[in-house]
Amino acid sequence: MHARVAAATAIAFFGLGLAMLPTPHAGATGGDRLVVVAHRGASGSAPENTMAAVDRAAAMGFGWVENDVQRTKDGRLVVIHDATLDRTTDVERLFPHRAPWRVKDFTAAEIARLDAGSWYGRRYAGARVPTLREYMERVSHNHQNLVLEIKNPELYPGIERQTLALLDEEGWLDSGHLRNRLIVQSFSAASVRMVHELRPGIRTAYLGTPRVTELRAYARFADQINAEYTRLSPGYVCAVHALKGPHDKPMRVFAWTVNGAKEAQRMGGFGVDGVITNVPDVVRTAVTAR
Ligand code: G3P
Ligand code: CA
Repeated sequence: MHARVAAATAIAFFGLGLAMLPTPHAGATGGDRLVVVAHRGASGSAPENTMAAVDRAAAMGFGWVENDVQRTKDGRLVVIHDATLDRTTDVERLFPHRAPWRVKDFTAAEIARLDAGSWYGRRYAGARVPTLREYMERVSHNHQNLVLEIKNPELYPGIERQTLALLDEEGWLDSGHLRNRLIVQSFSAASVRMVHELRPGIRTAYLGTPRVTELRAYARFADQINAEYTRLSPGYVCAVHALKGPHDKPMRVFAWTVNGAKEAQRMGGFGVDGVITNVPDVVRTAVTAR
């Protein structure tokens, strides 16, 4: 039996404590080790979804980052989490009459004028909302790996094909990147399925926790289930691991958004393969503590 499955099964059936389980290692990129992913970049210490956040993750020694992609009014892909610009930029000051300030109602040139750093702290004043192209170039420059979330795909018809075309142009769909440097995820199963159908070589993840009885259907197009951590149990992780994904490998589980040391240790004990966190340094310390 696979080590992760064995661990999760032990907890599920015998109620073994964490102390009896092997502690996973943080910062690794596969195998039996726990992947630590800096959520929206290292968003606990820099403004989310900015170059500063992915640079911060790199400076902290984290190879994996997670970010969100959406589309502007004039069809440019940009890296931002919310469907609106007001929480993380100064859009209300620059464009006071454009409420509700939807990303899809602003051109790329307008969004490029916004300050996406000051809301977080004065030292980040002038940080911009990156275009996906700029962002991919920075992640490449930093030798980082990417969990890219297609955010709100229902608002942006065709965003899957457009995103994949850009990733291809930026060299992210070659065999080296596909092997272990890129995961594309979405809360929309239809979007994940479309990514898989367009480029079957890409590792994909569904964001959510389908019922155990539904997992087999997801395994046709998703290599991973990336789940909100409070919804996970050892038995659920075990059920996911028991299935093979579209690349004929056991499906994996990443847990989000795990920002506490105890929670990270708990997820390690559950046998998850990765943890997505705003504070990767906290998670690394927690899961490597003996
Ligand atoms: O990667 C998981 C996580 O990013 C999903 O939630 O809202 O932060 O995009 P959200
Ligand atoms: Ca996200």
